[in-house]
Amino acid sequence: MCLVDAGDFIAREGRISEKSSIQLRIAAEFMLQAMDRLGYAAVNVGEGDLVFGDRFLAGIAGGLDTALVSASVLADEVPVFAPAHTFAVAGITIGIAGVAWEGFTPYVREHSDPGRPLAMAATADAMREGLAHLAGTDLKVLLAHVPLAELRPLLADIPGYDIAIAGHDTNLNSFAEPELAGATHLVNLGWDGMHVGRLELTFDRTGALAEVAGSAVLLDDAWPDHPDMVTLHGDYLARVAAALRDILTEYPVGPPPTGTRYVGVQNCTACHPSEWRSWRQTAHALAWQTLVERNRDYDPECFACHTNGFQFTGGFTLYEDTPAMAAVQCESCHGAGADHCDDPLRPYGRPGEAACLVCHVPLHSPDFDYAAYLPKIAHPKTP
Ligand code: HEC
Ligand code: HEC
Ligand code: HEC
Ligand code: HEC
Repeated sequence: MCLVDAGDFIAREGRISEKSSIQLRIAAEFMLQAMDRLGYAAVNVGEGDLVFGDRFLAGIAGGLDTALVSASVLADEVPVFAPAHTFAVAGITIGIAGVAWEGFTPYVREHSDPGRPLAMAATADAMREGLAHLAGTDLKVLLAHVPLAELRPLLADIPGYDIAIAGHDTNLNSFAEPELAGATHLVNLGWDGMHVGRLELTFDRTGALAEVAGSAVLLDDAWPDHPDMVTLHGDYLARVAAALRDILTEYPVGPPPTGTRYVGVQNCTACHPSEWRSWRQTAHALAWQTLVERNRDYDPECFACHTNGFQFTGGFTLYEDTPAMAAVQCESCHGAGADHCDDPLRPYGRPGEAACLVCHVPLHSPDFDYAAYLPKIAHPKTP
């Protein structure tokens, strides 16, 4: 078996990460370590892997067995990474070359280290360069971080690769069963991380590639967690927790849209005991506990929806500093309440469905249905 990645494990052009850049750097380091522990032979460099410049990427790959490959990335016109990686499996020599599309040059230039402008070589040149490094191997594999519409004609023009694994294009174009581009078997699995592409190669007695069959493996809960990955993920969360104060500097705090500031549920209970009692029975009151039980109470990616007023004046920042603002509270639905506490006769928020949809987004609450959910959180009508 031989595992490879076609690129963009860190980020992706045109898609802003939910993580702060500090957390994304930590995550990137752990993702590459995870691929190394899983035995990945080679990882291609996508434009998004250069989001922190090339030195960061080379730094986190240092000392790992997994090879970064790219015949495309140039710094000051000089290639940065090895164009290809060759090795043997079961008596067959495999060569893996990596390329990325020339059209990514503006993106990688913008994300270059100061004084070290990056560019992508012409895609066709990089493909030929990669091929030159695979001379003498039995199986020539191209990891192509190139839009399919660009890649297909290039493969037809530049024969020699047995297999091409495309990255970058969205999963709308994903296909696991190889198509022929020239004489190359081409697959493209998309980017959502929900599937692993699998190619089964059959060689004849002379060692020549005889058959290629592809499929997509859904990474659902039926697959048990790999013990090494559980450990690594725990280490990742510990690193994030240790860096949390720094990470939070990248989550700016500003006044809420309604002005005023957050004060926390303990400021509402005296005047609204019946609403308080009803709220305490809901899942919202336990939303922080959920993070604690999952060991995620130091992961800021979870705070926006599992705390009260995160990123707003007076709201949650860090549990140690704002323990009273943990969990989804009154103000999460009604809005910041300082003005109302000072003068209860001022008009105050009566939430509708829009208030729920801030947090009940499809990714985190796929079954959300206002009519069905509302009764579960509604306060009992006081006579
Ligand atoms: C000092 C007592 C007091 C405090 C503290 C207080 N409220 Fe009120 N609240 C009232 C009163 C009295 C009313 C009814 C006002 C009215 O009838 O217009 C009210 C009305 C409301 C309403 C209905 C508003 C509307 O326009 O119909 C909401 C929602 C509400 N409060 C939420 C809260 C929340 C959340 C907090 C804590 C952040 C809070 N209250 C703190 C006394 C208080
Ligand atoms: C600040 C974010 C936030 C807002 C706003 C919010 N929710 Fe939630 N909601 C959550 C979170 C987080 C959970 C999961 C809590 C847990 O179990 O840890 C949840 C859980 C629930 C549940 C329990 C679901 C279940 O199957 O047990 C219901 C019902 C619900 N919300 C209804 C609503 C409704 C209706 C609104 C709008 C009036 C609303 N929520 C607004 C974050 C929010
Ligand atoms: C965009 C808002 C949002 C973010 C960000 C978010 N959650 Fe949630 N989470 C919710 C909502 C809403 C629910 C309730 C879903 C439902 O029941 O429909 C929920 C439910 C959950 C539940 C199920 C609770 C239960 O016991 O039933 C867990 C576990 C959870 N979230 C963990 C996390 C973790 C861990 C993170 C950070 C990695 C996170 N969430 C980030 C909104 C969010
Ligand atoms: C999940 C969202 C949500 C949370 C959390 C929540 N409320 Fe409400 N609240 C509502 C909705 C929805 C209404 C009904 C609005 C309407 O009738 O137009 C409401 C109505 C009210 C009213 C008006 C009187 C009534 O019963 O209709 C008060 C007062 C109130 N809430 C106080 C609170 C207090 C205090 C808390 C915290 C202890 C709280 N709410 C937590 C959603 C929420």
